[in-house]
Amino acid sequence: MFRVNANYAELSGGYLFSEISRRVAVWKSGHPDGDLIRLGIGDVTLPLAEPVVTALRTAADEMGRPETFRGYGPEQGYGFLISAIIEHDYRARGVELDPDEVFVSDGSKCDVANIQELFAADSTVLIGDPVYPVYRDSNLMAGRGAFLRYLPFTAGNGFSPEPPEEPADLIYLCSPNNPTGTVLSRAALTRWVEYAREHGSVILFDAAYEAYIRDPELPHSIYEIPEAKEVAIEFRSFSKTAGFTGVRCAWCVVPRELPGGLNRMWQRRQTTKFNGVSYVVQRAARAVYSEAGRRAVAAQVSYYMDNAEIIRRGLSEAGFTVYGGVHAPYIWWKLPEGVESMPFFDRLLECCQVVGTPGIGFGHCGEGCFRLTAFGDRERTREAVGRIVERLRW
Ligand code: MLT
Repeated sequence: MFRVNANYAELSGGYLFSEISRRVAVWKSGHPDGDLIRLGIGDVTLPLAEPVVTALRTAADEMGRPETFRGYGPEQGYGFLISAIIEHDYRARGVELDPDEVFVSDGSKCDVANIQELFAADSTVLIGDPVYPVYRDSNLMAGRGAFLRYLPFTAGNGFSPEPPEEPADLIYLCSPNNPTGTVLSRAALTRWVEYAREHGSVILFDAAYEAYIRDPELPHSIYEIPEAKEVAIEFRSFSKTAGFTGVRCAWCVVPRELPGGLNRMWQRRQTTKFNGVSYVVQRAARAVYSEAGRRAVAAQVSYYMDNAEIIRRGLSEAGFTVYGGVHAPYIWWKLPEGVESMPFFDRLLECCQVVGTPGIGFGHCGEGCFRLTAFGDRERTREAVGRIVERLRW
């Protein structure tokens, strides 16, 4: 008789965002005419930029002609995309990478979930609390429940805790942060790099939201910190930058300087378990770096950041404390004292028909907070804030 992976029993019932969708679907079935505004999952709403759509069409046409048809591509990604990533996302910020350090994939979620396979089963893992749940859940699935350590990222420590006294093997950092919308300074990242060098740790740096950073002093890549290539793997994505949540394209950087042969191991892992991202999608991603593509994508990011400002200002003027939303498309709303986030989710749905994400879903330190995303439509975002301010009574 087969036996299942008992580690799955350590997971909470449903993946956070699936659980939110399920609750919303139940509400919707009871209120078919309800005028819902979804500011829950961080999914983009603007359509793909025109240069991206043109690239998709052109590449699809190429695939339909015998002389330009392509089968399997290079597993690590096409050179035309990797060189554009290196040029625009790294060299432009003073970071040099070799093409074989960049691995194109179909999403950062998969990459941050899969990367833990490279490390020993009894590696200690340090994650933030609150945290993007994939870091925690993927390590629970792999049997590292007993090796997980949580580090509060709260208003109390300015969402930037000092590295702990104890050593940790793996450290997940996310900046700009999901869910709190806050960002780590150059000095804070430098302290983490120093800590990792001192303890022989690897930092797993999730920079999926770097395009939202507004302050030119803030680093976009962890490799802007000296020596970080010896201790850090970085994850980046086209999802939130260029509206690719439904198209799927991302990359991760596994530097050759990392000890333990991690670059070769990841290459081995990817070539065994993954056949690469489609040519059509990589052409679309390449178009993001054309002059017109960069302009269009910057305009999309600005649009979402204006939404963030509408939410931040609206809630602040109504007397609430909010964090984030300045260098990130997430607003972390501190609920009034004693208000729990899960019952509040239901109340917000009932009273305002607005969907958000309860802070408790991101960890115990998320209790008492609530996440709203700036990825909505402009007028609907305004409407949501208006409903919250007018209808909620405490
Ligand atoms: C979120 O809402 O946190 C994100 O959309 C989830 C994801 O990117 O996987």
